[in-house]
Amino acid sequence: MVKDGKMSLALLALVNGHHSAGWRNTASDTDTATDIDYFTYLAQRAERAKFDLFFIADTPGARIDHLDAYSRGPNYMNCLEPTTLLSALARGTERIGLGGTASTSFYEPFNLARLFASLDHISHGRAAWNVVTSSNDHAARAFGHAKLPPHAERYARAKEFVEIVRALWDTYEDDAIRFDKATGEYFDPAKFHPIDHEGAFFKVRGALNIARPPQGQPVIIQAGASNAGRELAAETADLVFNSDDTFEEAKAYYDDVRARVARFGRDPSTLKVLAGFAPVWGESKWEAEDKHRTLQELVTPMVGKQRVGQDLEADLSGLDPDQPVPLDIIPASANQHTRYFEQLVHMIKHERLTLRQLWQRYERGNKRVLGTAKDIADVMEEWFAGKACDGFMVICPQLPVGIEEFADHVVPELQRRGLYREDYSGTTLRDHLGLARPQSRYARTAEPAMG
Ligand SMILES: Cc1cc2nc3c(=O)[nH]c(=O)nc-3n(C[C@H](O)[C@H](O)[C@H](O)COP(=O)(O)O)c2cc1C
Repeated sequence: MVKDGKMSLALLALVNGHHSAGWRNTASDTDTATDIDYFTYLAQRAERAKFDLFFIADTPGARIDHLDAYSRGPNYMNCLEPTTLLSALARGTERIGLGGTASTSFYEPFNLARLFASLDHISHGRAAWNVVTSSNDHAARAFGHAKLPPHAERYARAKEFVEIVRALWDTYEDDAIRFDKATGEYFDPAKFHPIDHEGAFFKVRGALNIARPPQGQPVIIQAGASNAGRELAAETADLVFNSDDTFEEAKAYYDDVRARVARFGRDPSTLKVLAGFAPVWGESKWEAEDKHRTLQELVTPMVGKQRVGQDLEADLSGLDPDQPVPLDIIPASANQHTRYFEQLVHMIKHERLTLRQLWQRYERGNKRVLGTAKDIADVMEEWFAGKACDGFMVICPQLPVGIEEFADHVVPELQRRGLYREDYSGTTLRDHLGLARPQSRYARTAEPAMG
């Protein structure tokens, strides 16, 4: 473990950026969504800026309804499968961590454990799995279900899923593979531990056919905002993303989640919190605001309504954009993204915004800062020094320009202030994050296999 006391930075690499109109405002003349050279460029750009993590968000499957809106705001409608993409990036980069989302609602623990163990080997210890329970019925239907199970059931399944994956990653102890040509013993069977698990959701009797990953266990990421999500993060995660747009809320989240970690008997500093952060850089504040306004003006009403309606779990397509959203069409509580839902309801109730103002203001919970390198670094310093987070998930409204500007202007400012590393001091993602390599459960104690 290498610990430098600096903030961590991750890049959320959604093709042309997180903004639904990012693709319309790119300098590129061709679609880069499935272009490995383009993603390699993004990852190398983040690596040159010494980022901890390059992160691919995902949802399993395209939408098949509201195509009038999704064909114009096409996020996640055309994308590479994350572990395939990250495996290729492992060969085009050397140090940056490589994280991707995979859903516990649609994978089997065995497949998942195998994929991320392989990625950890291929990348020499840089893999991270973002555990999500998924929040869209379109994916459920693609997997043969009428709709997603309720939120609590999804999280109960996720908890059991993660336990199994972790047990499978410990199949082989670190020194189990002998490769002893003289005696003919390839591995020591006493250091090979199949599992025999039978729980509420899964039955797994078997063992992973791959040596223990270089990080011991790939890094586990979580982004749950709900009570169940926070509990899962506190019990199992190494890294958690949060989505709050004020310092006070982010600080409350940080304190809450760390207190939960302690209740699980873990050292609170073993869970790192990255705040979702959406910077737009300009030579002046005015220039940054102008860039953002240009993007906002490219959002068509159809896309704006769909984006807000999706997180409000309500159909807004027939509403007048210049009137407030009527409260009686919104469900009493969320079954999808609790935090996003609550933020929108708050904006409707307390800020009395029109629908158009809502889609122009709403950042899906991430802290948006428009300004110079100083303006952006000031906010990051306030949040980091004030212990509202351990670092930031940089969510650029536009790519590749967002990471280019952030790397060239904001990173040097953070380094000048002593807040960010000048170079990597370790080789694995756990090193970058200051997290210890977990011992095999069998090396620690003589525990029997999980049952
Ligand atoms: C930075 C960040 C990245 C996320 N990436 C994904 C993703 O790739 N796929 C997904 O389905 N949800 C993703 N989410 C959403 C969360 O996993 C989670 O569903 C959401 O925060 C709601 O949590 P809750 O169900 O506990 O309320 C992400 C959230 C954040 C803040």
